Amino acid sequence: MPDARAPDAATCLGEIIRNRRSERGPYDASQAVEAADLDAILEAGRWAPTAHNMQNYEIVVIDDPSTLAAVGRLQPGGSGDFLKENYAQLSFSEEELIRKGTGLLATMFPPSWRTPDAEPDTSGEPATLEATMRSCPVVLIVLYDPRRRAPASEGDVLGIMSLGCLMQNMWLMAQARGIGMQIMSVFGGDGVEDGLRSLLSIPSHLQIAFACRLGHRAGEPRPQLRVRRPVDRFVHLNVYAHPGAS
Ligand SMILES: Cc1cc2nc3c(=O)[nH]c(=O)nc-3n(C[C@H](O)[C@H](O)[C@H](O)COP(=O)(O)O)c2cc1C
Repeated sequence: MPDARAPDAATCLGEIIRNRRSERGPYDASQAVEAADLDAILEAGRWAPTAHNMQNYEIVVIDDPSTLAAVGRLQPGGSGDFLKENYAQLSFSEEELIRKGTGLLATMFPPSWRTPDAEPDTSGEPATLEATMRSCPVVLIVLYDPRRRAPASEGDVLGIMSLGCLMQNMWLMAQARGIGMQIMSVFGGDGVEDGLRSLLSIPSHLQIAFACRLGHRAGEPRPQLRVRRPVDRFVHLNVYAHPGAS
């Protein structure tokens, strides 16, 4: 007899989806990601839908402490374009973020990034990923294989969407198993990509899509305002409703 009090699968899945969040804080260095958890996360990725079932990815699992430390020494190149585009999406108060329903709070970023004319800081020691990688037991580097392209997909848009499905499957499984996860796009960017390629012997036909940092959060969750647009602000019934039109 099924337990009538047990939440049904849809309710459980809804909670996992709603509670999944970016765990950007430090992880507990004394707590490994168990092999069973890592296997479950990779298995969830394996069953992700991909366009034409092309499975256009490879994943490098980094759990070797000296390799993780070497990743932490990579120096992301600052990009003025990134800073300007980032600034345009910032909210400078919680009220502003709630009203917009999209983007991020400015306080998540260093003060030098919070000005409209911010430029990469070239004074002092070059920034590294050391602080982010410290205490992190596992990093997954997800590689995109453009040769496994679905037919009739200009610019391989469908392939890029497929990588998003892979990301989400792994993220939801990590959430379900109590493993924190943070996406790091930085590894595909200037200054880091070449270093990571040679460190991990990544062949030239593969591109670095994104990385996931996995681990158990150290301490209590940081209070963090998470916003989304309400459903009625992005759903259009039968016909596209232009905002403001009566
Ligand atoms: C394609 C993609 C790239 C992302 N890149 C980063 C990143 O480089 N660093 C980061 O901290 N979060 C990154 N994120 C996480 C988003 O910022 C985050 O999902 C969003 O702000 C919503 O917050 P939540 O994940 O806590 O719900 C990325 C997410 C996606 C889907």
